Amino acid sequence: MAIADLQDAQPSTRELPPPDLSHIPGPAAPPLIGHTVAIVKDGYAFHRTAIARYGEVYRYRMFGNQAVALSGPDALEFVLMDRDRIFSSQLGWDVIRRLFSRGLMLRDFDDHRRHRRIMQAAFKSPAMADYLARMNVELDRLVAAWPVDASFRFYPAVKALTLRLGGAVFMGFDTGSGSNRASATAENAEIDRINTAFIEEVRATVGLVRSPLPFTAMRRGVRSRAWLNDRFARLIAERRARVAQGGGGDDFFTQMCLATDEDGNRWSDDEIVDHFNFLLMAAHDTTSTALAKMAWALAAHPEWQARLADEVAALDGAPLTLDSLNRLEQTEWVFKEALRLMPPVPFLPRRAMQAFDWGGYRIPAGTRVQVSPGLVMASPELYTDPDRFDPERFSPDRAEDRRHRFAWAPFGGGAHKCIGMNFATMQVKAFTVALLSRRRLAPADGSATAWRRLPIPQPVGGLPVTLTVA
Ligand code: HEM
Repeated sequence: MAIADLQDAQPSTRELPPPDLSHIPGPAAPPLIGHTVAIVKDGYAFHRTAIARYGEVYRYRMFGNQAVALSGPDALEFVLMDRDRIFSSQLGWDVIRRLFSRGLMLRDFDDHRRHRRIMQAAFKSPAMADYLARMNVELDRLVAAWPVDASFRFYPAVKALTLRLGGAVFMGFDTGSGSNRASATAENAEIDRINTAFIEEVRATVGLVRSPLPFTAMRRGVRSRAWLNDRFARLIAERRARVAQGGGGDDFFTQMCLATDEDGNRWSDDEIVDHFNFLLMAAHDTTSTALAKMAWALAAHPEWQARLADEVAALDGAPLTLDSLNRLEQTEWVFKEALRLMPPVPFLPRRAMQAFDWGGYRIPAGTRVQVSPGLVMASPELYTDPDRFDPERFSPDRAEDRRHRFAWAPFGGGAHKCIGMNFATMQVKAFTVALLSRRRLAPADGSATAWRRLPIPQPVGGLPVTLTVA
């Protein structure tokens, strides 16, 4: 049965009236722009000042909307676990709804659960092992092609790398590691076309003009989405044909075409397109930020680079497997510390579908609510010297991340917890192996110390580094 036949009306699509928040304290909001400029400039500073002044519940205004921030790990747990089914993710994330509609994060409650059960099939171990095999071949080729003994900007390079990797691992294109050179050239050109459209689509999510008026980023984004929908619809036919001929199946897109839940429910073609489109967005910039923060850590802390290089060397150059990645314990601490210091998604929005009580306030239905894994992970109550790069805080002896169930939550939690968490961890570890088995990394002139957190954290100046042969 196609899952569309099971669907009821999504409870969260009805719009709610603007709530009265006058009883909740908060800084005075300048007309129209509200606190947008202060938050875009330094969201952590804005929210820390507000917490110090107003306590753990306060209101603020951003992009023309009033919202209520609930701070601290208990609030994070309350909102993300959502035991009373109060909070809509779809209405919280409405800023991306026009371009990424019907993606998993833009679904709520039972409808979300049904779709998530199907997507889960594409993340099972045998499929993950296939992705890893594809990833290894690509990573070796892509990392080996980076220039040595010359300064180059790591962040744009790693973004380009993850897009290329996406062509092979996510979409199953032949990018040149196979034997057929002519077909690889054509397939690389096709990946580039898809990536160009995808970049336009993502850019539109942060455009100031929210309607697709001529010459706006939103217009280009909406057109790119239409083009991608058409391209992905054809890709479904291409990948199914490949499977029918006895080939393929080892890429994410094909897995999504084949995915069923335990009851045999599957997606319609339109749903595959919607989910894939969202998934590319969810996977790409987040992983690029994580890899850039890891690279910053390795360049800035040579002692940790040496420890990770030893760990990689202990794998003896054998082909990576899911098991061998599990042996990279210290690499995992560094990854966790990178995500703690620079979480790709530091703030999570929701919309309350019912009134609720928190922190001594009655918060009305329709309220935009924000919680922050980023601020929780930077909190001195949970982490010793929280601004310091100190991966050993994740060692079993110290386990600072166990001080609260939501002390470490860069992947969120509850029903919408990142479904790609293990995939991202696998990709970051495989990248670290590809890099440190052949190169060492040092800061180059102008190496970034400053990071911009919005719309997605990235190093100002692109993180110049120098690679040398290991
Ligand atoms: C370091 C990398 C990543 C980080 C930090 C990250 C973070 C997150 C967070 C915080 C959420 C929850 C958002 C919310 O509750 O509002 C989320 C959801 C999601 N992520 Fe990731 N993500 C990463 C990589 C990936 C990858 C590689 C994939 C796919 C292969 C992926 C796919 C998704 C999807 C589909 C959702 C929606 C889940 C749902 O609504 O049920 N993410 N991610």
